[in-house]
Amino acid sequence: MTDHDIPIDQRSTVAVLGLGPMGRALATAALAAGHPTVVWNRTPGRADPLVARGAVLAPTVGDAVRAASVTIACMIDYAAVRASTSGLTDRPGGTLVNLSSGHAAEARAMADLAARRGVDYLDGAILTPAPTIGTPAATILYSGRHALYQRHRALLDAFAGTGIHLGDDVGGAAAYETALLDLFAMSVGGLAHAFALAVAEGIAPAAFARFAKGIGGLLPDLTDRFAAQLAAGQFPADVSSVASAASALSHVRAAAAVHGIDAAPLEAVHRIIERAVAAGHGGDSYARLAQQLAGAGVDAVAPRAG
Ligand SMILES: NC(=O)c1ccc[n+]([C@@H]2O[C@H](COP(=O)([O-])OP(=O)(O)OC[C@H]3O[C@@H](n4cnc5c(N)ncnc54)[C@H](OP(=O)(O)O)[C@@H]3O)[C@@H](O)[C@H]2O)c1
Repeated sequence: MTDHDIPIDQRSTVAVLGLGPMGRALATAALAAGHPTVVWNRTPGRADPLVARGAVLAPTVGDAVRAASVTIACMIDYAAVRASTSGLTDRPGGTLVNLSSGHAAEARAMADLAARRGVDYLDGAILTPAPTIGTPAATILYSGRHALYQRHRALLDAFAGTGIHLGDDVGGAAAYETALLDLFAMSVGGLAHAFALAVAEGIAPAAFARFAKGIGGLLPDLTDRFAAQLAAGQFPADVSSVASAASALSHVRAAAAVHGIDAAPLEAVHRIIERAVAAGHGGDSYARLAQQLAGAGVDAVAPRAG
């Protein structure tokens, strides 16, 4: 049988391992789509609402996996999935879809482990919150063999209105997720730092929020400019320059120091900027900082113009 001959799986029995908010949402969506659903969680008790909806609670991971043709793992991280499934002698021919968060190397290692056990493997990254699961608002990225993704489309489409298969490289979904989490983490860190500084200056949080949202509003256009400039390998400072950012950061660091607020996040960004200035890129746009950080890596995806 070739990959193209693999039949589409319409109402496969699903095992969901991990019943945190996201695992519960996935199991609920599988049930709503008519898939017989078996659930398992390390800590008992979380399955009760799902059992009330028709799910079967498996006493062990092995019981869950053996009952299903496809297993969805959704735990706090890959280590938890490995720990929970380490004792399994998996049934060859089953499919594991791992929707836990992790980085690309972990996804590739998990795929290797699955292959050694005779288990087909798809990796995925859920980009939207648990309440979106089972609705058009949900987005999930998948990576791994396309034929395997196609085989389980009926189930995977029940999870998210937007399911995107990125490619055969099993690390692809996790790579997107980690870069997006990088953006989220730094944004939240920036928000926390900015509010701390504003409050220290005696500004009411609500008054600050009014203008802070304007900064957030700049990001969509800035994101597009980063993408276009990195792709072109050219960094014209049509809006503002790296040198200007260096000067602004000096003021912010000084203000943080006055109030005794930890300036380490600002210092880290300042170091990145100063390296770019020292390399002669002070007159370039902010996107030059990404190019500088990525080093040779950026050439692989966006050949530079010179
Ligand atoms: N919640 C969201 O909106 C959201 C959005 C996007 C992506 N995700 C991703 O989805 C995954 C699950 O998230 P979540 O929100 O459901 O909650 P979570 O707090 O990230 O994970 C909770 C689940 O992991 C299990 N777990 C933790 N450590 C374990 C271990 N050592 N061995 C076995 N199981 C272990 C927990 O079992 P116990 O009940 O026994 O502790 C529980 O089932 C995460 O990777 C998260 O990043 C979540």
